[in-house]
Amino acid sequence: MCGAPARTVGWRDPGYIHTSFLKELWPNTVFAYKLGHRLFNCTYVWSKEYQFKAPPYPGQDSVQRVVIFGDMGKGEVDGSSEYNDFQPGSLNTTKQLVQDLKNIDIVFHNGDICYANGYLSQWDQFTAQIEPIASSVPYMISSGNHERDWPGTGSFYGNMDSGGECGVLAQTMFYTPTENREKFWYSTDYGMFRFCIADTEHDWREGTEQYKFIEHCLASVDRQKQPWLIFLAHRVLGYSSDLSYAIEGSFEEPMGRESLQKLWQKYKVDIAMYGHVHNYERTCPIYQNVCTSKEKHHYKGTLNGTIHVAAGGAGASLSPFTTLQTAWSLYKDYDHGFVKLTAFDHSNLLFEYKKSRDGKVYDSFTISRDYRDILACTVDSCPSTTLAS
Ligand SMILES: [Fe+2]
Repeated sequence: MCGAPARTVGWRDPGYIHTSFLKELWPNTVFAYKLGHRLFNCTYVWSKEYQFKAPPYPGQDSVQRVVIFGDMGKGEVDGSSEYNDFQPGSLNTTKQLVQDLKNIDIVFHNGDICYANGYLSQWDQFTAQIEPIASSVPYMISSGNHERDWPGTGSFYGNMDSGGECGVLAQTMFYTPTENREKFWYSTDYGMFRFCIADTEHDWREGTEQYKFIEHCLASVDRQKQPWLIFLAHRVLGYSSDLSYAIEGSFEEPMGRESLQKLWQKYKVDIAMYGHVHNYERTCPIYQNVCTSKEKHHYKGTLNGTIHVAAGGAGASLSPFTTLQTAWSLYKDYDHGFVKLTAFDHSNLLFEYKKSRDGKVYDSFTISRDYRDILACTVDSCPSTTLAS
């Protein structure tokens, strides 16, 4: 690792961290498994038995349910071992997900995973907290400032937010299908969904390796099979009314949408989701700061833009909004919560925002459309062939 406290205090031998690859699973089949360890005397200790259901085949037409949130962290029921009590909503979010687990197929934790910040035993605390979830559905993560940032180590931001971990713990404790574990961007499919996961702690601007990856991920999906195209990143590369961004006058991470909006538009990304800001906000479908639809809840046909959602309120202390009202912000919530997407089929998607305190839906919308709506040309989404050509 890269510095203190990760390299100095709070360290203990993590033991062994195993990664198993289960190949050629039949889709939709339930598998039971347990984990074992061989002791020095050649006897074995075994965990209890767990179960998981193998994913649907790519493009499969069935109900598929995805939970997405950022910045959850961990907590204890009695508050005993949390030294800074920074993630007050974490246990509520975990509880809601565990209670609803039968109705969840895959989870994305969009950066700022456990806020260990160099105190490594807190990763064990976090993985114990999410064990009921991560042992039965895919628990996918993206990288945030609290996993990666450290001066002089190649992170895009030179701050000390990772407490010296510089990404080592995140890339060791969790498996992600990245080409290079140091660079946390990847693509993954689930049934009718394609997810393109960016790494905001590495440069994403045009001309970079990551930019090429993002374009390839968005361009290579067959929308007839996987119509639901979701872009994920930890910091807000799109739009946010969080006070910190509003004070900068950018309403986003600087150079975010300026760099990526032409890709989102060209490849018709449906929803772009972020964490980092500890609140919830949803925009209109938007391109270049202009709403491309007046509808707020039931989108039919082409969106003509991308809906941007900040969902970073899963646990960490809430961050306030600006009092300025923009034209693009449709719903804001200063509370803990998470998002659930339900694809009913290739033409119908339900988006829900739920509060962690009660699991109830406080914001929602639907998208209904055909494949031809995805093919339709909108502003800047098709090559500019003109009458003159
Ligand atoms: Fe963050």
